[in-house]
Amino acid sequence: MEVIIKTNYDEMSRAAAHVVADILNTKPNAVLGLATGSTPLGIYKELVRLHQEEGLDFSQVTTFNLDEYVGLSVLHSQSYHYFMHENFFKHVNIPKQNVYIPSGTTRNYQAFCQWYEQRIEECGGIDVQILGIGADGHIAFNEPTSSLSSRTRLKTLERQTIDDNARFFEKREDVPSYAITMGVGTILEARQIVLLASGANKAHVVAASVEGPVTSMVTASALQMHPATLFFVDKEASSELKMRDYYDWIQEKKPGAPQI
Ligand code: PGA
Repeated sequence: MEVIIKTNYDEMSRAAAHVVADILNTKPNAVLGLATGSTPLGIYKELVRLHQEEGLDFSQVTTFNLDEYVGLSVLHSQSYHYFMHENFFKHVNIPKQNVYIPSGTTRNYQAFCQWYEQRIEECGGIDVQILGIGADGHIAFNEPTSSLSSRTRLKTLERQTIDDNARFFEKREDVPSYAITMGVGTILEARQIVLLASGANKAHVVAASVEGPVTSMVTASALQMHPATLFFVDKEASSELKMRDYYDWIQEKKPGAPQI
């Protein structure tokens, strides 16, 4: 795991977007794993800018989103279908048929989840997975105690997640209690992972994920087992990392490091 500390949110978002853009430039038909929430908005903004101003091409890209609320129609303003359309898809040239987002309204969740996993495999697996991190340390909606080898499935949200996400809904009771989410095991199969964390309220879970034990109590800690994770954090989110100076030192020494 490589921890990259940036001075602020915008810088962090731009740096993370450029990792994705570099992958697309070497593999134009890359499979992207996408995340929702407030943190990835800056990545999408920069990818849209790169598309509109610098010709970054998405015409051969396939995308798989991490999760969706159960019970919200695709047109609901808080559904992740709607979020992705508004913040990313309507601004870039990804073919509609290449976009996969878990269904929150299917009649058969088990069959849908199996199909979703199968589609990821048939498309060659995820080349780069974007992730945020919840205040409870979750990745996607893999709440504490989720199996670290879990696959796409229906999940009951933790109360803290419902509280955190209530800000997007008119009232707390409107937040769905269930979601359909890729599993930790599904996420760990992505070839490259780019996680972003911003703000002091994430400092604790950032430290637990990077420097704490691998535990299902903080599902992001499973990324310690992943061979290629870039953990982007802004100053506030990095504040509880014990090895902060070392992470900065690694980045400082990078230009002179022997090529591997
Ligand atoms: P946030 O959500 O980016 O809105 O903080 C992160 C998450 O729950 O994964």
